[in-house]
Amino acid sequence: MNQRIHAVRGMRDLFAADVAQLAHIEAIFREVLISYSYVEIRTPIVERERLFNRGLGSTSDAVSKEMYTFPDRGDEILALRPEGTASVVRAVIDQDLCYNDKPRLWYSGPMFRHERPQAGRYRQFHQIGAEALGYTDAVIDVELISIMTEIFDRLAISSSVQLLMNNIGTPESRTEFKRVLLDALQPVSHLLDDDSRNRLQSNPLRILDSKVPATQDILKEAPKLKDSLSDSSKRRFDEVLQLLDRANISYTIDDRLVRGFDYYTDTVFEWVTEAVGAQDALCAGGRYDELTELLGGRPTPAIGFAAGTDRIALIRQHLTEFEHRSVDLYVVPLSENAQEYSHEVAKHVRGSSNIKVREHIGQDRLKTKMKWADRSGAIWAVIVGDNEVANRSVTLKWLRTERTQVTIPLAKLTQTLTNSGER
Ligand code: HAM
Repeated sequence: MNQRIHAVRGMRDLFAADVAQLAHIEAIFREVLISYSYVEIRTPIVERERLFNRGLGSTSDAVSKEMYTFPDRGDEILALRPEGTASVVRAVIDQDLCYNDKPRLWYSGPMFRHERPQAGRYRQFHQIGAEALGYTDAVIDVELISIMTEIFDRLAISSSVQLLMNNIGTPESRTEFKRVLLDALQPVSHLLDDDSRNRLQSNPLRILDSKVPATQDILKEAPKLKDSLSDSSKRRFDEVLQLLDRANISYTIDDRLVRGFDYYTDTVFEWVTEAVGAQDALCAGGRYDELTELLGGRPTPAIGFAAGTDRIALIRQHLTEFEHRSVDLYVVPLSENAQEYSHEVAKHVRGSSNIKVREHIGQDRLKTKMKWADRSGAIWAVIVGDNEVANRSVTLKWLRTERTQVTIPLAKLTQTLTNSGER
């Protein structure tokens, strides 16, 4: 036998109930986003590497350590997108979507990061995100947070998620804060964990979200980001929090929430959960008022979020019942003569209901056919032989309960199935 070829590490095959769970989650996102009049945008999975270098920052983990890059057949270096915001902004500039409009967009698709795989962290994962471009008002910050709040509600997981809020100021105030932080941490750099010590030069702000206890202790004494904020950032933060209070959305202020990309300005937020292991972030976002200009567009204030649907699926597996069946009705023709009528029965039910119908294929013995019917997970089997063909009837058998089988006219089949209340 030839050697098997396995899937790439961190990239999963999803099947049956997993796909159905994700489809259910995606459907809820879609419904809520559309109800807020957000418009879907689909951007390519492959972009130029420099889009992310410039957009997310070359020292961000996603760019410096985790990006899948490869040379095109020409000289250009391309990348599998590690996230969606930079692509959306590139598309908005390319298509001039902000000309005469303030687009509110949403997207859904696979993203790629070469991280260390573990439960809830994959190298190909799925995000659904929303981005609103052209708005400065704090009302839009709260609209986006309200959308996600409603989605968590509809997914029946809102009691297991917590919203963290912060304001990280402007690039200018952050540059100043980085200097002050560096001055404070450099003398004690030998006490920091390795990652944080490496970040002192490359990305000192990320030290703030270190999970290492010794580093956390040092940070207690270090300068605080909130003390470096400009008056306008402080005002904006207060305004957003007041609007959240008014909308009855609860949150926790986390002044160590800094986010991983350089593009953020002012408002940042993240929903975390304690329900599923270490990968606790389910959705995150914030303002990126300078990104459009950085990518060559006209200055355009903007804000968005992206949710990791694989992680949301994981938490729902822990917390909610989710029943998935791919076959409801299994149609069994007894002989070759009944084959054509079997197609007609299947077509009839499919055409008159949303019942999922599978036809048996293959010239097996009846016992084998019924075994396949049972294995399919179907609620019912319909058996058709010469008598049924002659009378335009079907013999209906319940596969999961002790009910006796009945022979009924084909015209009554759909009604009998839908009225039985078993789906
Ligand atoms: P992010 O925090 O990098 O933000 O990712 C958002 C969400 O994607 C995370 O909260 C998590 O649920 C999920 N996620 C990230 N990496 C992985 C992974 N390796 N495996 C599974 N799930 C993962 C962004 O991507 C920004 N573009 C969000 C944004 C939109 N900001 C403004 N607009």
